[in-house]
Amino acid sequence: MMDLKSIPQTRKDLDRYEVENVFHSWSFQPTLSPRRVVSANGIRFKDEDGREFLDFSSCFISHSMGHQDPRVVDALCEQARTLCSFAPVFSTKPRAMLARALAEVTPGDLSRTFFTLGGAEANEAAVKICHQYTGRRKILARYRSYHGATAASMTLSVGDPRSWAQVPGGTAWVPVPQPYCYRCMFGQKYPECDLRCVTYIDEVIELEGGSELVAGIILEPVTGANGLIVPPEGYLQALRSICDKWGILMIADEVMTGFGRTGKWFAVDHWGVVPDIMCLAKGLTSAYVPLGATVVRKSIGDRFKEQFFSHGATYAGHALACATALRVIQVYQEDRLIENAERMGRYLLEKAHELQERHPCIGDVRGLGLFVGLELVKNRKTRAPIIPVGAKILPGDNPKLAVAKKIVEMGMIAMAANPSNVIVMGPPLIVKKEEIDEGVAIMDKALEEADAVVEE
Ligand SMILES: Cc1ncc(COP(=O)(O)O)c(C=O)c1O
Repeated sequence: MMDLKSIPQTRKDLDRYEVENVFHSWSFQPTLSPRRVVSANGIRFKDEDGREFLDFSSCFISHSMGHQDPRVVDALCEQARTLCSFAPVFSTKPRAMLARALAEVTPGDLSRTFFTLGGAEANEAAVKICHQYTGRRKILARYRSYHGATAASMTLSVGDPRSWAQVPGGTAWVPVPQPYCYRCMFGQKYPECDLRCVTYIDEVIELEGGSELVAGIILEPVTGANGLIVPPEGYLQALRSICDKWGILMIADEVMTGFGRTGKWFAVDHWGVVPDIMCLAKGLTSAYVPLGATVVRKSIGDRFKEQFFSHGATYAGHALACATALRVIQVYQEDRLIENAERMGRYLLEKAHELQERHPCIGDVRGLGLFVGLELVKNRKTRAPIIPVGAKILPGDNPKLAVAKKIVEMGMIAMAANPSNVIVMGPPLIVKKEEIDEGVAIMDKALEEADAVVEE
């Protein structure tokens, strides 16, 4: 074995490790090293050639308050000097404080938090809570959703008594449609549709065994990676009523939308809806360190005073992460970043509509706050998608990725590697008007790549 203090680290060596030793997410494993980032500040970052880029995606909607804010770095370092972490069975000040802060900012009586390492685990915890609380097996989930990458780890922990609380057979998923008005699965138009997509869910719940068998429904209040779908007015409230009618739990996956992304603390706040369980990550720490959170309403939290909570993790509330998250949340409030997201979001949406006027490849523009998507089509009249659903996992180029490539060549990143036909513009919440103009100008030029394949 080589001396681990002298692992070769030239540029060529690092490139080789990327290609031979790193297992890369959601991709064919690369034959060339990805661009290496060496520093970042605010809304910009630099690669190792010293080239500067504009981060118009907040690194997949996670670096919400921008990169390397000294207030957050200081909080992280101070906690590191005091106590990096301790076994979760003990209390630490940052975890207790953060749990209180989350009870403060989340709506209604959401008040007890289980801490995780990221978004997928927050949803895993939510699903397990949902099963354990209701004793039921079925969970509704909507087509065109993304809730994270974990497999059913607990089901596989065979013979461990902590796995006994797993509902036999694990989770049974029942798919239901999105409120995707641009491509309504019922061929209807809002508002004449009378929210057919919600009455359909009501029917599905009945057919799946209603209050006897259905535990809950998981949803992104504003869908992110699969197409930036903003529900029409009345949708979420109607869904809440249906959950209440059947006594099933509503799990709001706010991993992308939480902490100001949509111009309010949480996306559900736009419609005054309180979910039973809310899942958080990304903006919770602004990605300075990994952390996720599953926040439940008081009645659910209280149930587990009598019922064993069969879930846990070594790092459930890591002190470094909790101290960092607490400072991040304070900065959102201190710097009025959520208000800025609302104001700048309106401006970005306006600019996105102007892009649509100039580019035949843009079929639809949707957005809420600093979360604005451009849906690319081959033909505006027929709404033929620019790429098929499976394009993300197929080899070869596609026109959406050609736009993404052009954007990078021009010194910016946006969220374009997601599976849908939508390119998302989601700059950090600190963004200024001039920076939006700069990003939109780059997007304007890059969209010519997709215009080239329009068939009209
Ligand atoms: C809505 C949503 N839920 C869950 C996740 C998974 O989060 P993580 O990657 O932190 O596990 C993501 C990640 O993009 C997401 O967008």
